[in-house]
Amino acid sequence: LLPSKVKIVEVGPRDGLQNEALINGRTISAADKVALIEQLADAGISYIESGSFVSPKWVPQMATSTEVFNTIKRDNKVTYAALTPNMTGYNAAIAVNADEVAIFSSASESFSQKNINCSVAESIERFAPIIADAKKRNIKVRGYVSCVVGCPYEGAIAPEQVALVAEKLFTMGCYEISLGDTIGVGTPASVIKMLQAVSARVPSSQLAVHFHDTYGQALTNIYAALQCGISVIDSAIAGLGGCPYAKGASGNVATEDVVYLLNGLGITTNINFNKLLQAGWFISHKLGKAPVSKVSQAYLAQ
Ligand code: HMG
Ligand code: MG
Repeated sequence: LLPSKVKIVEVGPRDGLQNEALINGRTISAADKVALIEQLADAGISYIESGSFVSPKWVPQMATSTEVFNTIKRDNKVTYAALTPNMTGYNAAIAVNADEVAIFSSASESFSQKNINCSVAESIERFAPIIADAKKRNIKVRGYVSCVVGCPYEGAIAPEQVALVAEKLFTMGCYEISLGDTIGVGTPASVIKMLQAVSARVPSSQLAVHFHDTYGQALTNIYAALQCGISVIDSAIAGLGGCPYAKGASGNVATEDVVYLLNGLGITTNINFNKLLQAGWFISHKLGKAPVSKVSQAYLAQ
């Protein structure tokens, strides 16, 4: 019933750090981001979304992504990916040799407007030239759908609406669709309904889940998703993050908590748990706060 192996997509350096408040008006330095990414790779994480090429006016925390990509010592077993909203961002990602890019749309019109200042249909139009060029260069494109269960502006989102956006991104050429419960409102009941609707249109082997732990439901939802045949999980070290356009949204589910769960279930991840904990403590220290991960806090207390 459960997969024997799971791939973790580490989004902490991007989805996490994009939302961490500035400290004394300064963002986490490029050097600290590089150190974090290298520690995550050393812990055995094979896929790291390492930054985004978005407008620095919109997300100042990601303004150093070029420096980050140019500085990391790459491990050839690791995929270093970048989030790109349009051709400007895509070209910047290509210039720094990002291994993969990710585009992002939403199951909610209002969220799309607030997040990327255009409609869902317009966002998809902007992605067409990205996908076309990436194909020529043999660069894989990952697609995100946000607000897959609920939207901060529209409330509950119909599973079929998520399925249509996911299918659109998939048929355009995204090899994997990450389904984001951006505001963390899902429970297994709503998540399973959503996954059933989406997997009727996109094979579950090409789906990933992306949970935020705002309502404390992330691990439960992950367990439900595993039982639905999902074997790719997005998470952020130390539970970094939140969402500026999603009021009250807390961070992504913590990678430490997910790996603890998977270890307990006997599911292979090839991640060194001790090194993972240390990477989480490193970045939490830089942010001047405790890791959000309960597992990490439990180990710290020992
Ligand atoms: P806009 O203002 O509508 O676009 O922003 P514009 O084309 O009019 O450009 C405005 C300015 O930005 C111009 O500069 C452009 O050159 C510049 P100016 O002339 O004013 O000096 N610009 C750029 N600069 C750097 N990189 C670029 C870029 N593009 C234009 N790529 C835009 C549209 C998409 C740029 C903006 O809305 C934006 O950057 N949004 C990003 C928002 C974001 O990063 N959100 C977080 C990621 S999504 C997420 O976290 C959800 C997810 O994790 C899933 C989940 O949790 O569910 C994926
Ligand atoms: Mg997210």
